[in-house]
Amino acid sequence: MSALTITPNGPLRGTIRVPGDKSITHRALLTSALAEGSATITGYCRGDDCLNTLRALQALGVAIEVETDTVRVWGKGLGGLTEPVLPLDCGNSGTGLRLLAGVLAGQPFFSILTGDDSLRRRPMGRIVNPLRMMGAAIQGRKGGELAPLAIQGGTLQGIEYRSPVPSAQIKSAVLFAGLFAQGETRFSEPAPSRDHTERMFRYLGIPLETDGCHVVLSGRPTYTAKDVSVPGDLSAAAFFIVGASLVPGSEVRIVNIGLNPARTGILDVLGEMGADIRIVNQREDAGEPVGDLVVRAAPLRGVTIEAADVPKMIDEFPIFCVAAALAEGRTVVTGAEELRVKETDRIHAMATEMTKLNVPIQETPDGFVLDGGAVVKGGTCTSHGDHRVAMALAITALTGDAPTTILDTDCIATSFPNFHDNLLELLTISL
Ligand code: S3P
Repeated sequence: MSALTITPNGPLRGTIRVPGDKSITHRALLTSALAEGSATITGYCRGDDCLNTLRALQALGVAIEVETDTVRVWGKGLGGLTEPVLPLDCGNSGTGLRLLAGVLAGQPFFSILTGDDSLRRRPMGRIVNPLRMMGAAIQGRKGGELAPLAIQGGTLQGIEYRSPVPSAQIKSAVLFAGLFAQGETRFSEPAPSRDHTERMFRYLGIPLETDGCHVVLSGRPTYTAKDVSVPGDLSAAAFFIVGASLVPGSEVRIVNIGLNPARTGILDVLGEMGADIRIVNQREDAGEPVGDLVVRAAPLRGVTIEAADVPKMIDEFPIFCVAAALAEGRTVVTGAEELRVKETDRIHAMATEMTKLNVPIQETPDGFVLDGGAVVKGGTCTSHGDHRVAMALAITALTGDAPTTILDTDCIATSFPNFHDNLLELLTISL
């Protein structure tokens, strides 16, 4: 269990790339594995989460050649996966496990999905219920609420499913199962979640209709693999966007970042807080909007976040807490109870750890209240085993009055193995 010590060391300056988008990498791997023909995925995320999905696909009989920046996947078509002899270990990845569950629900064989301590505590009933309605037999602890999940897949029927929570993972589990189902699969959710699955399906020519919070997919399409270039992950870039906004004198350019509008809530909110963020060189790649970001330090002010704002920045709350801590005035977040079922309870983890660094956060059942203008004190804090909490604390540490040690930072490798190197690269070393 390693630790990271961060010494405040002046502005962040320079140009960096961050890892490929984690959500898009999972989907590119899965759709390529189920396609006819082969495809090269460039710029994929090499974090453990995506590597676990890649290994699960190999265990399902998919040939994948792995290079530093690319993977080549030889698709097996919709009917070609083979029964794995061992449980498939998704590690820390909710996305990996839930999307694979959708795929496995449609297979005429038995499989088991499991993960680490954190993943085995996270709610799975939300995908097990619709997949059972489609015809899969799924068992798990607590009646299927908790992994490991044992799946006997088979012939599926399209269903009409209304998800009680906005969630791209639930939507994507149902849509991946819908690829194998007879007839149409209809999915709706209370607010739009990220639509990478829909964009990837459309890019590959899989017929699908979308309208706001509704998706309709016709089952059993045949489609041919297509190369995918994965843009950088905005959720990884967010740590440096906030770092550069907060540390006086900073100017950072982050190139080739995915700018899917279902993900850019953090840019909108930071903009509202007064951040100086420019988007340049906008373009489209594999059906996803992409651009470069130029961020300069600027004074921030507090902001109010409500339920409708949450899905578009769901993964950015740990780093958003840091922006709010250093902003002038009060920040209030409500309607964010989903944060309690992420890799850890992120409301509780951030409140506990930021308090150790002299940031006063008041935890509420569905969010937090934070009076900004904190004077951050160096000290020791812990990640709770959550990669985004660990990185958010590292950025908080840049604003402290003394070095800060963050404990339990191995988890950073789930999404951003080079985080510390990138950070050191941007820090102006004052010799
Ligand atoms: C993801 C969806 C989000 C997000 C997760 C990645 C995805 O979860 O928090 O990190 O790739 O589909 P929910 O859709 O469950 O909110």
